[in-house]
Amino acid sequence: MKSPEQAQGQENDFEGFKNWLRKDYDNQLSQLGLTIEDIRGKRILEIGAYDRRFAAACQLFGVTEDVYSVEPSLDGSVKEGYAEQHDAMEIVDKLPAEIREKIDQKTLITDAEHIPLEDQAVDIVLGRRVPWFGVEQLTDRIKEGLRIASEVRLYPVTQEMEVEFTQALSAIKRDIPGVEVEYCTTTDVEVPTEDGSTHVIEKVAIVHCI
Ligand SMILES: C[S@@+](CC[C@H](N)C(=O)[O-])C[C@H]1O[C@@H](n2cnc3c(N)ncnc32)[C@H](O)[C@@H]1O
Repeated sequence: MKSPEQAQGQENDFEGFKNWLRKDYDNQLSQLGLTIEDIRGKRILEIGAYDRRFAAACQLFGVTEDVYSVEPSLDGSVKEGYAEQHDAMEIVDKLPAEIREKIDQKTLITDAEHIPLEDQAVDIVLGRRVPWFGVEQLTDRIKEGLRIASEVRLYPVTQEMEVEFTQALSAIKRDIPGVEVEYCTTTDVEVPTEDGSTHVIEKVAIVHCI
């Protein structure tokens, strides 16, 4: 049995965790060019979800219960790169059991180019900092997103990535009529470096199919 002090300590820890998650969520939404009202009650699918913090925040803050998390490394097969530095269970382990269960039920251990859902199963597909290797993979990823949703948002698009995005979108527009893309700057900051600072500009690609 927990002492009142232990119970209070746990409650404070959970409040601290919720505050941290809320800040991270607001930042993630802002990078994707979204507000909470834009996604309230919507069916969302996040690709490259890793520790599923986006789904956790959507559930915990009552924004939407309908959030899929697509992440290939959750079978434990990947133990390098991002997975080396972050514990994939760190976030969900802190959640109440019923929320964790809802997140687990909508977790798909697969890659963003092959999603086992029917056409237009969700409203929006989101991806933040999900790497790709070559225009072909980026093209396949956006096409698969547009198969299951009418809107795909990918962040970031840096200056170096713009050529690949343009090539991928040209290929997609040839195959799917009515596809449009908009690039919006959602990050425009001075970041301190060892010898001064650097100006970081990052955009979100918003791809629609009308
Ligand atoms: C840098 S992490 C970003 C995690 C999370 N989106 C965030 O912003 O905190 C990139 C994630 O993308 C996943 N990933 C890599 N290739 C992928 C693919 N083809 N499809 C889906 N996810 C992929 C990695 O396993 C990793 O979890």
